[in-house]
Amino acid sequence: MPILNRVSDMYDEIAFWRRHLHQHPEIGFEVHQTAEFVARRLEEFGVNEIHRGVGQTGVVAVIRGRHGDGPAIALRADMDALPIVEAGGQPHASTIEGAMHACGHDGHTAMLLGAAKYLAETRNFKGNVVLVFQPAEEIGSGARAMIEDGLFDRFGISHVYGMHNMPGIPVGDIALKRGAIMAASAKFTIRIHGRGGHAARPHTTIDPIVVGAQIVGALQTIVSRTVDPIAPAVVTVTRFAGGTADNIIPEAIELWGTARALSMADARHIEERVTAIATKTAEAAGARVEVDYNQSIPVTENDTDEAAFCTRIAREVVGDARVDAETVPVMAGEDFSHMLDRRPGTLVFLGNGASAGLHHPAYDFSDEAIPAGVSYWIRLVEGKLSP
Ligand code: NI
Repeated sequence: MPILNRVSDMYDEIAFWRRHLHQHPEIGFEVHQTAEFVARRLEEFGVNEIHRGVGQTGVVAVIRGRHGDGPAIALRADMDALPIVEAGGQPHASTIEGAMHACGHDGHTAMLLGAAKYLAETRNFKGNVVLVFQPAEEIGSGARAMIEDGLFDRFGISHVYGMHNMPGIPVGDIALKRGAIMAASAKFTIRIHGRGGHAARPHTTIDPIVVGAQIVGALQTIVSRTVDPIAPAVVTVTRFAGGTADNIIPEAIELWGTARALSMADARHIEERVTAIATKTAEAAGARVEVDYNQSIPVTENDTDEAAFCTRIAREVVGDARVDAETVPVMAGEDFSHMLDRRPGTLVFLGNGASAGLHHPAYDFSDEAIPAGVSYWIRLVEGKLSP
């Protein structure tokens, strides 16, 4: 079955929601207006249950099928924007200075609303579909907050599905793979405490800048020398901060960074190496070091059977030629991984065409992807909960 006719009829309305959300971006857990917008639409659709404030500002809705009891499956969209000044230009540009939907979560939210409207009208399934509108994806906390608020147990969810738009893939094409599709993402802070002093008398100091430089250099050997070359991994130092003048050796400096890997074994290995290199290098120089290492986002791991099921659904919706079932994984992290950690399911990428990249000031979600995205959600529910 191709793009559903009814979804084509709803296109203008869904695109209107998308642009409204784009104009009113909200960040982190502070997605109050967005959550209210979502909840109001869900009320209009006549869904069976609406729960506000799940995981602080998340919204959960339940639609019961008309073919009796069955499992409950969850579809998840993220609602939050980014602290970016939008390049602007289009009529629906952000009206909030310093906030922007630069990751397309406006599109994700609007598409899931579109699917909710259709599913509440037709209910051609057994069991329950649980619509999960999540805050705070970009800060990596929203999924966990909703889980800790009992998401899976309160609604009896057996499977969970996600979708993220992807620039560089033709508009409305669907790409996925079984296994790891997005990386584990860790962030770290390394504080190096030396002994400050006069820049011309280095022998009386313990120079934390030199120690920091040695650590940055040595961190480059983790991926190049200690991770299997066949396994993708990244260690990046993103901030090197310290010092106040050209003639002063500072007391302390601070490094920030991130690490990515496609297996949790590699992620844990990198954590161990970053900590050891920072600690031992500082120790050799007589400096003291504090390492905060936060293994915040696990690998986004698609279940093998569910990935096969979602591939079949995607092919039904957009046709074989527009589905890539062995896409290349992405080294960015996605906090939907916390949900896939607890329930089997699949995250797919929905092509956003030749747009600017995610998190870029000129990015915009492509409304042309809406029919494919919404039809995929609907057919997934009707296929998984087939009466
Ligand atoms: Ni995103």
